[in-house]
Amino acid sequence: MKSLIIFFVSFSSCFRMDTREIKQSTSDTILIVFLSRTNNTRVLAEIIHDQVGGDLVALELENPYPEKYKTIVKLVAEENESGFLPALKTKVDMDKYDIIFLGFPTWGMQLPPPMKSFLAENDLSGKTVIPFNTHGGYGLGNSFKKVKELCPESTVLKGFSIKGGSERDGIFLAIKGKRRKDAKLQVKSWLNELKISTPK
Ligand SMILES: Cc1cc2nc3c(=O)[nH]c(=O)nc-3n(C[C@H](O)[C@H](O)[C@H](O)COP(=O)(O)O)c2cc1C
Repeated sequence: MKSLIIFFVSFSSCFRMDTREIKQSTSDTILIVFLSRTNNTRVLAEIIHDQVGGDLVALELENPYPEKYKTIVKLVAEENESGFLPALKTKVDMDKYDIIFLGFPTWGMQLPPPMKSFLAENDLSGKTVIPFNTHGGYGLGNSFKKVKELCPESTVLKGFSIKGGSERDGIFLAIKGKRRKDAKLQVKSWLNELKISTPK
């Protein structure tokens, strides 16, 4: 019973994001920036892009992470622990954008270090920030909370999170086929809730 209560408390806390609707104007420019290793978050980013338009940008690092799963897990755990911010190859002219979708997988139950780098390098003050996430079955951890913390002068709207792959178990891209169709429907209803209109 106790664990059930804890589950509901932590479940509801995931959704205690800012549910304010944005007043989107026709001249608002949209950036969708995402980090993805096994393409689940990329698929979600593409679905969002189909719905809202704007510029789609994949976050790239100066020194890419190791291929081997166990090695990256260890490295990310060390980076999360020390607060190390990996250098990014991707540069964005943030002045061009009003609405920024931020997509990332859960890494070590946290916001991945490259996304922390992106938020440290770019000033999102006064902009609308909308996080989205894929995870391996353990949820988004404190990642959306961290986005809010790192964007204190932004309006951070309610994020979207779904289960992606599980590299640990040899499952790479999982948001395909029926799962992709389901994800598209869920994304559409989330965007409707946020009152973000589609370009078409
Ligand atoms: C370094 C690393 C750490 C991860 N840590 C977690 C985690 O803490 N919790 C979780 O549910 N999934 C975790 N995963 C799984 C990913 O979040 C999941 O597979 C996600 O869908 C990957 O997104 P991508 O395909 O866009 O890279 C981890 C994956 C990697 C590579």
